Parts: sequence; structure tokens; C-alpha cells
Amino acid sequence: MRYADLHQRSLTDPEGFWMEQAQAIDWDKPPSKALFDANAPLYEWFADGMVNMCWNALDRHVEGGRGDQVAVIHDSPITGTKTSLTYAAMRERVARLAGALKARGVEKGDRVIIYMPMIPEALMAMLACTRLGAIHSVVFGGFAANELAVRIDDAQPKCVIAASCGLEPGRVIHYKPLLDGAIETARHKPEFCVIFQREQETAALIDGRDLDWSAFQDGVAPADCVPVEGNHPAYILYTSGTTGQPKGVIRPTGGYMVALQWTMKNIYNVDPGDVFWTASDVGWVVGHSYICYAPLITGNTTIVFEGKPVGTPDAGTFWRVISEHRVKSFFTAPTAFRAVKREDPKGEFVRKYDLSCLKTVYLAGERADPDTILWAQDQLNVPVIDHWWQTESGWPMAANPVGCEMLPVKLGSPAVAMPGYDVHVLDEGGHPVGPGTLGAIAVKLPLPPGTLPNLWNAEARFRKSYLDQFPGYYATGDAGYLDEDGYVYIMARTDDVINVAGHRLSTGGMEEVLASHPDVAECAVIGVADDLKGQLPLGFLCLNKGTTRDSADIVRECVTLVRDRIGPVAAFKLAVVVDRLPKTRSGKILRGTMVSIADGKEFRMPATIDDPAILDEIAAGLKTLGYPQG
Ligand code: COA
Ligand code: AMP
Repeated sequence: MRYADLHQRSLTDPEGFWMEQAQAIDWDKPPSKALFDANAPLYEWFADGMVNMCWNALDRHVEGGRGDQVAVIHDSPITGTKTSLTYAAMRERVARLAGALKARGVEKGDRVIIYMPMIPEALMAMLACTRLGAIHSVVFGGFAANELAVRIDDAQPKCVIAASCGLEPGRVIHYKPLLDGAIETARHKPEFCVIFQREQETAALIDGRDLDWSAFQDGVAPADCVPVEGNHPAYILYTSGTTGQPKGVIRPTGGYMVALQWTMKNIYNVDPGDVFWTASDVGWVVGHSYICYAPLITGNTTIVFEGKPVGTPDAGTFWRVISEHRVKSFFTAPTAFRAVKREDPKGEFVRKYDLSCLKTVYLAGERADPDTILWAQDQLNVPVIDHWWQTESGWPMAANPVGCEMLPVKLGSPAVAMPGYDVHVLDEGGHPVGPGTLGAIAVKLPLPPGTLPNLWNAEARFRKSYLDQFPGYYATGDAGYLDEDGYVYIMARTDDVINVAGHRLSTGGMEEVLASHPDVAECAVIGVADDLKGQLPLGFLCLNKGTTRDSADIVRECVTLVRDRIGPVAAFKLAVVVDRLPKTRSGKILRGTMVSIADGKEFRMPATIDDPAILDEIAAGLKTLGYPQG
């Protein structure tokens, strides 16, 4: 079916469309219908079906004759190792781990926090949870102990599964002390922790609380898959919101599987048996959906890559992995390509490898700048597809449906709305605007299957963040426009979220940390444009009256504070002390104007500014940091 007909049908006949897609999933009890709207505007999909995601990702492939196919390849240029696990081996390992968790009392509905780097055991831990109907919440390794503690308090896990360490180029990330610190800080105490001891570091275990990954599985009976309702949460994934308190996005089991399996053929153009590689991290939504669940549900071989685009050991790593493992579709973030392009602009590394297996490349996580797309297309000689999605959606909201119908690529646009997404651009009053006009991007409710039905323990926040602004719509938090052909253009966020190297961060969260410094009276954090990472956070600090300490010391302490509280992933390294912040007469900080000054862009003097002279002070402060650049 052509894209236009398919999209139209998904909107006019969602029941028929999604019930058909649901047939690709093995249900213990098939759902009687697709959409459950009794609690509108809160919607659920496939709520009365019974299903297990681990069964669909592993067991059914083993039962169906795919047991000897490689399910997971671990390629770690950081440790210099490559290993692989078949579907049969994965099922055996996951069933045993689930059995050990079950023996310790983990059951359907219990939460389990997973704090692991890019190793196959991270996928095993996720799948063992879904096998039992336990709800996992993976925490990215680049967050500090405090962020882990916040998530422990919100999710209230029965147990935490962690690795002894993660590995960044040139340094070991000591996960265990971070975990111990987080549990000490958190009000909620998990009953036990399971620690996977990596060769690179053996962590000290706390008697009575910590269990060794291998030892605790000794002699246990493997666990069977526990069928759960279609709307049962498979996982909670925390993402940045407008405060330091992250939002716990709930992922419903049934709709997620149905949507993911649709995307694998229709967007990523892979069939069972094909090798699919997403270079991201299991700590992010892209890792949940396209390193773990979607490729396994489809019967692909997925790659768990522990490395960086450059420096592990060189800018040819991506091409080596693609060529060695015969990757058909490859997915990464634009920032990763910018890093490679910077080191190897002429693509000399590209030509060292046979990339004939590679058919399509996909980019997401941040705006894909046309230069990067063109560079990648020239070097790789395959279509480079930008697509747009969010932690909340769990799968692409807009893409080029390559496996269904390859539409013309328009640079700067992640193409068109995917099935079930009725994308509109609204003005401040919530009225749809015409093609080419900038506005808030909103999706008419209901959102399609797999998307968030709610926030964990925070329905009021869910309604306020996403539903209240434009009744009848889901507010994406992105601003942009649609063109005459329905192509979406994502231009900016409407909230305080910034995107640093494909990582979603809240400037509000950073401001909360800076404001806790004893010498800081007031502060603002903005995202400035950066050639490599897309955006970088930059802080303005107003000090308490009478502070006599050296500003450089305070800036240094603030940088350390953000790293210690939020984590290295915040990449907060730039801050400047200023006397005052520019504000409107009603006291709102003019962050947008500061961004324009930092980026060297033209801007209109805000009519409501209380004192325009402050902008000169801001410009002078930015100059000391080298902004605007160039
Ligand atoms: N555990 C611990 N620390 C981590 C980490 C992890 N999993 N991931 C990143 N960090 C640290 C980095 O070591 C770095 O520390 P530093 O300040 O001491 O140098 C810091 O967090 C910032 O990391 P990052 O912004 O990623 O910068 P980088 O210089 O390490 O790498 C890129 C830059 C572009 C190569 C890298 O960001 C990248 O590959 N990005 C792709 C992102 C991606 O896949 N996103 C998913 C969306 S699809
Ligand atoms: P995350 O929840 O981390 O996936 O981040 C989601 C946000 O990243 C979106 O709301 C956008 O602001 C941004 N984003 C993701 N993909 C794209 C894209 N292809 N183009 C522009 N922005 C994107």
C-alpha cells in the first residue's frame, strides 16, 4: 500500500489498521479491540489482550526455528572484544536470570532499576524483567548518583541490577560506588541488588544486600513467560522535563510491540534474519526500542556496540562494524556523524571497508543539519533518512517510510507523519495554521499504540505537560511547521529542553543545581549552538551581594556541582558571572534573547524588557567565553 493511503487509513480506520498489525504479534489471548477510550483523553490500546514481550522477542523465534541465528552481537572496541549470542542462548540466559529474580520474589508489576553499560547483560536484564511482567527502568550510565537516587525514589524498585563498571575511552566509570551513593541518598531502599562483575573491575559487594550475578543464578529453575495485559507497563523511562524531577514515561506492552514490528519493515526496511544496528545506548529510548526490543521482536540480529564514533580507535569504527557484521540498516545520531566528519572529512576511512551490505542510514535524536546528511550521502552512497521522535512516542512520529514507499528526501525535514500520528501545527490559541507557518507541533488524540498513556505516579503532570495546553491534542514540546506536501520541519523546543550530543537535557534542572550554590543568588542556563554537539549548555550566574570570592572559583565549583549532581552527560562546562539577568517587566528571564546574542543571530528588542542595557552586559559576558563563535 502506498504511504498516503496507509496513513489515511490509520486515521480513518484505526481499529482495522492496528488490529491487522497486531496479528504479527503472538498473543496469549488476542485483544478484542484496539482502542480503549473510556477514560479519554487518556487512551489505551489492546488493553484486554494477554501477551508477553520476552516471548515475542526470544522464545517464539526459537520455537519457530530461528534458535541458531545470532540474536545479539556485542562489539566493544573499548575492550577489544567481540562476542555473539544466538536466540537459543539468549532465551536460556534470560530465562535463568528471570528464574533467579523470581526466586528472590520479583513478580509482575514490581519495578527493577537497571544500571548497566553497553553489554549484552543489559538486554538480558531488560528481557528477564519483561519475562516476569516486572517493570524495568534503565538509567543511563552518564548520570550522577543523585539522578539515580531520584529515579529510585520515584520508581521504588524491588531490586537494582547493575554492572560493576562502565568504560569510557581512557577511564573506568565506577558504577558500584555510584549505586551505593544513590541508595544511601534515596529514601526508598531496594530489597537487593544484583551486580554483574565485569573483568575490568570487581566491585565490593555489600553483605545481605548485594548478590553476584552469576552466583545468584546457580541452580535456579528457569522462569516461563508471564502473560500480561496489553496495557501493562513494560518499562518506565525517565526523561528531562521542565524541572529537576524527571518525567517517568510509561511504555505499554501490547501497543509498543505492535508499533515496533510495523516500523521494522516499513521504515527500516529489514526482514527477519537481517542485521540491524543502532549506535546509541540502552539508557535512551532509541536503545530500548531499536537496540533491544524491535530488532528482537522482528527476528533480526542486533548489535550492542560499546564504543564511540571516533577515538575507539579511529573514525572508521562505524564502517568496520557495518562491514564486519554485514549491517543492512544503520541508525545513529547526527552528532555522531559530525564527530566522524570532523576527523575524516574526505571519508578516507569509509573507503577502507566493503560497505556493500549497507542499504539505508537513519538519523534521529536532534535536528539533522543538511551538511551532515549530504556528507553522509556522498560518502556512503545510500539514502540517509532523518526521522523524528521522542522518549514519549517510543517510535518515530515522522519518517520516510522507506520499506513501504521511499518518498523524496527533503533536506531539513524528517519527512512525513507515521501511522496514527495526526500532526498539526497550532498557533498560541490552539488554532491550526497553514503550510509554512511556524507554530507548536501537536498531535491529535489519540496517539497511536506504543506511545505513553501516562506518566508514572504523575497523572496531573502528564495532563499539564502534554494535554491541557491544546485540548484534544498531545503537545509535543517541539515547534516547527508543515509544508504543502505534509513534510514536518522541527525547528526548536517550546520548553526548556536542550539537546546536547543527542542527549535530552533540561536547562531548568541545571538551574536548580546552580541555584543551590551558596554564592549564587540567581542564574539562567541556555543552550548555545555547537558545531559538534548541536547545542551546549551555558550558564549565567548572579552572585549574592557582598560576595568577595573570586568569580573564577565560583564558576569552577558550579561546573563541578552540575557534573556531580546531574552527571558528565550534562556537558556543562561554560558559565559566566554577570551582574544582572535580562528580564521582562513581569520578571520573566529573557532566555531566548540571550540565545540569539550567544549564537550571533539578529533579534528584535523585546518590547517588555525592563532594562535594555543589560543585554550589553550579557554580550560582554558571552564574549569572555568566546561567543558568538567565528
Ligand atoms: N557513562 C558515563 N559517562 C558517559 C557516558 C556513559 N554511558 N556517556 C557519556 N559520558 C560522559 C563522557 O565521557 C563525557 O565525559 P567528559 O566530560 O569527562 O569528557 C560526557 O559524558 C559528555 O559526553 P558526550 O556529550 O557524549 O561527549 P563525548 O565527547 O564523550 O562524545 C560524541 C561526543 C558526539 C562522540 C558522542 O556524544 C556520541 O557518540 N553521541 C551520539 C549520541 C547518541 O547516540 N545519542 C542517542 C540518541 S539516538
Ligand atoms: P528524546 O526524548 O531524548 O528522544 O528527545 C526528543 C526530542 O529530540 C524531540 O522532542 C526533538 O526536540 C528532538 N528530536 C528528535 N529527533 C529529531 C529530529 N529528527 N529532528 C529534530 N529534532 C529531533
